[in-house]
Amino acid sequence: MSIITVATTKGGAGKTSLVRIILARLAASGIKVAAVDADFNHTLTDWVTTAAKHPITVHHELDETKIVPLIAELQSSHDVVVIDTAGAASQATIFAIGCADLVLVPVQTSSADIVEAIKTINLIKSASLMMKREVTARVVLTAVQPGTNVAEHIEKEVAKANLPVLKTRLHRLVAFQEMSFTGIAPTSGLAGHQCSNFLDDLAALGGLPESMKIAS
Ligand SMILES: Nc1ncnc2c1ncn2[C@@H]1O[C@H](COP(=O)(O)OP(=O)(O)OP(=O)(O)O)[C@@H](O)[C@H]1O
Ligand SMILES: [Mg+2]
Repeated sequence: MSIITVATTKGGAGKTSLVRIILARLAASGIKVAAVDADFNHTLTDWVTTAAKHPITVHHELDETKIVPLIAELQSSHDVVVIDTAGAASQATIFAIGCADLVLVPVQTSSADIVEAIKTINLIKSASLMMKREVTARVVLTAVQPGTNVAEHIEKEVAKANLPVLKTRLHRLVAFQEMSFTGIAPTSGLAGHQCSNFLDDLAALGGLPESMKIAS
C-alpha cells in the first residue's frame, strides 16, 4: 500500500494531469487504485466518473477533518491511493501531505510555478519536522519544451533553489492533454515512454508498493 499526494499552491501547474497518468496506468495494469479529490473544482472526480476506462475508486473530500480517516480507510482496501489537491494552500492539502509516502510537486514553464514549488517544498519540510518523519518529495518538471530558453531557465531556477527533482521530465505533448477526455494514459510513443519512466521513478522512491510491476 502506498499514498501519493500531488500538491503545489500554484494553480494550473499540472497536478491533475500527473494524477491521471498514475491512476490510468496503474488501473490499466490491474492494480487497485483509489483517488481522493481535495480540489473544490472536482476536476479529477469528473474525469474518473466520465472518462476513465478502468475501475478507479474516487472520493471528493474538502473537509480537513475527514481527509485522513478517508485515506486510511481507502488504504486498507487498495494498493495505491493518490490525492489531488487544490491550486492554493488549504488545510486539506497539509493533511494530505502528512499522510503521504511521496509528494509530487509539478512545475511547468513559469517563474510563478517555481515560486510556489519552493513554498510547497517548505510546507512539506515543516510537515516532516512536525511529524518527526521525513516525507519524500520531488518536483516534477512537466509540459517541458526541450531546447527552448524557457526550459533551460526553469532547469537553472530549480537547481538554484536546490529543489529535489524527479529524474524524468514530461514534455509538453498533446497525448497528455488528450487524457482529459480519452481517459487513457499513453503507453506508446514518446508520451508512453515518459509515462513508464515516470512510474519507474515513483517505484524507485517507494511511492508504489515494492512488488508492483508496471506494464510498460
Ligand atoms: N505534460 C503536459 N503536456 C501538455 N499539456 C499539459 C501537460 N501537463 C499539464 N498540461 C496542461 O496544463 C493545463 C493545467 O494542467 P492541470 O489541470 O493538470 O493542472 P492543475 O495543477 O491540476 O490545475 P488546478 O490548480 O486548476 O487544479 C491543462 O490544460 C493540461 O492539459
Ligand atoms: Mg487540478
